[in-house]
Amino acid sequence: MTRDDMATRKVVGEADHRPGNRIDLGQKLRIGHFATNYDSIARDRLHDSGNTLLMNRFHRWYCRSDFWRRTVERRLLPWVLDDRTLDGLEGDLLEVGPGPGVVTDILRRSPCRLTSLEIDPALAQALRAQFSESEVTVVEGDATKMPFENARFSIALSMTMLHHVPSPDLQDHLLREVHRVLRPGGLFMGSDSRSDGLFEIAHWRDTLVPVEPASFGERLEAAGFEEISVESARKAFRFRARRPRPGPSGPTP
Ligand SMILES: C[S@@+](CC[C@H](N)C(=O)[O-])C[C@H]1O[C@@H](n2cnc3c(N)ncnc32)[C@H](O)[C@@H]1O
Repeated sequence: MTRDDMATRKVVGEADHRPGNRIDLGQKLRIGHFATNYDSIARDRLHDSGNTLLMNRFHRWYCRSDFWRRTVERRLLPWVLDDRTLDGLEGDLLEVGPGPGVVTDILRRSPCRLTSLEIDPALAQALRAQFSESEVTVVEGDATKMPFENARFSIALSMTMLHHVPSPDLQDHLLREVHRVLRPGGLFMGSDSRSDGLFEIAHWRDTLVPVEPASFGERLEAAGFEEISVESARKAFRFRARRPRPGPSGPTP
């Protein structure tokens, strides 16, 4: 193993199969102030695109688990934010694809005005209830056709969601939409998982269109971004890109 591999293993969450983290789907789970169990997940409205679900039951459970919360809080989000602390997140922040709200719950502690855009109506409704006491705005909608005006946000964040968008073409629509709703100079940051055998099993009958880090920079550039960086680790990659500021004679947004 190279030194780089060892460094990235430290920052990116790795599946941990110690007994303390064993999955017990019948058990009632309490995660922060959000509680659910297997039956209620099964009753959740599932979205069909052909034979494929946006998120299968295991996946829904996993995205609410304490294990995922710890991974996001201690490793993944600090890695994506890089030199920024939560206090450094100011202005209007768009979170794309919050799912059960693990990242949302962390971001709401920052001084930014947070808007979370979720396509799944049941998840969006649950998030609204979960964050009813806080300043988070939850919008139900499709990030490939965002219900926001141009240049509305100063930062956009997409965590572990791009592979749920069901085609590369739609993923590119999403990138263009993020570019459209960001202000000139606005930052787009995020991460996604890298595909491997376990990842594919976890997405059984689930949407899985992996994003290839090697070509992701070109896709961001094609969507109009500049100052692009894409960095791979063993299980995930992170990215950062900026909507260009108009030049002296450039277009106004
Ligand atoms: C694996 S979850 C990630 C949740 C969260 N970002 C995290 O890291 O814990 C992916 C979420 O993206 C949502 N999603 C997928 N396609 C979407 C789209 N086009 N617009 C908005 N949300 C979308 C899914 O419904 C799901 O809740």
